[in-house]
Amino acid sequence: MREFYFDNAATSSPKPENIYGAVELAIKKYSVNPGRAGHKKAIEAGRKIYEVREKVAKFFNVKNSLNVVFTANATESLNFAIKGAVPTGAHVITTNFEHNSSLRPLFYMRDERAVKLTFVDTYKEIEKSINIETKAIVINHISNVNGTVQDIKKIGEICKKYNLLFILDASQSAGYLDIDMERDNIDILCTTGHKSLFGIQGIGVLCIKEGVDIEPLLEGGTGSFSKLTRQPKEMPEKLEAGTLNTPGIMSLGAGIDFINDLGLDKIKEHENKLTEYFIKEIQKIETVKIYKSITENQGPVVSINIIGLDSGDLASILDEEFGIMVRPGFHCAPLAHKTIGTYEIGAVRFSFGFFNTLEEVQYAIEALNSIINQL
Ligand code: ALA
Repeated sequence: MREFYFDNAATSSPKPENIYGAVELAIKKYSVNPGRAGHKKAIEAGRKIYEVREKVAKFFNVKNSLNVVFTANATESLNFAIKGAVPTGAHVITTNFEHNSSLRPLFYMRDERAVKLTFVDTYKEIEKSINIETKAIVINHISNVNGTVQDIKKIGEICKKYNLLFILDASQSAGYLDIDMERDNIDILCTTGHKSLFGIQGIGVLCIKEGVDIEPLLEGGTGSFSKLTRQPKEMPEKLEAGTLNTPGIMSLGAGIDFINDLGLDKIKEHENKLTEYFIKEIQKIETVKIYKSITENQGPVVSINIIGLDSGDLASILDEEFGIMVRPGFHCAPLAHKTIGTYEIGAVRFSFGFFNTLEEVQYAIEALNSIINQL
């Protein structure tokens, strides 16, 4: 059976061809520990990693590439940011569309470090929620449930005006929307490499504005300052304990090359075309309930339910009978489901990627119609 992949919000698949080559090169040619020895190969591997650091810095306009930290995933980046930069007792404003990768560290901070939390739907409610104790704003740029796009330009302006730390979760937006740390006034950008940046799983990114301090959550070997008893204060070693993921980092570099060669706008345009078409056609079907962005901009993620059919059952039918891969349930975003009214029932998520085609989306719509006709 032909396969139709609409689960790009979970991970992008397939990857561009150059990713496979980059990973192979990393394993075959640079299979040494970068920065852990003085031999030629270790230096070469270290140089490859430095090149990707520079590419990431340029991509998100991080002034100093040493403030680009490689992590294991967006979850680790967000844990570093939230637990390492938000002060004890602070008030933090966040959204109802956060993923558990932000929510759980935030609730940890609430329970263990007396942090107070306010949840909003969009930037419009932020200013009135600010009080004397407000220190940080944590925002999921694009919801992984309904594609709600938050206006980070407006949020950045608010953070600047009130001197608040702006932590952005760009897991669903990096590689789809243009993000500029300086222009958008972002203090800490957290993202993953394996979604729209086209890298493999196991590589995450943490970009930090100069002057913003993050306490290291992990301590260990850095290949430098070996006699120091504590973690070095130098970046990026301060936040990079342990051997780096060279294949992941090189795949991320190749992903950024692919995006730069193609142009971010082309990717966005294509994914928007698919999403708009899907929404337009789905809205014609009476028995389908659609959950889309609550702001004026829609990301390439939409959830649906067929009235009277369990979301898990619908996803199984799509998979088994039509070869369509989607993600049902709660998407690690319980508050988002509460907000859109699906906390009890969940929803079936379609998330589009650059390698999806209009013909595939048409097939998905036909499949949904056929399922409804058999009910
Ligand atoms: N965060 C990923 C998703 O939404 C895994 O599916």
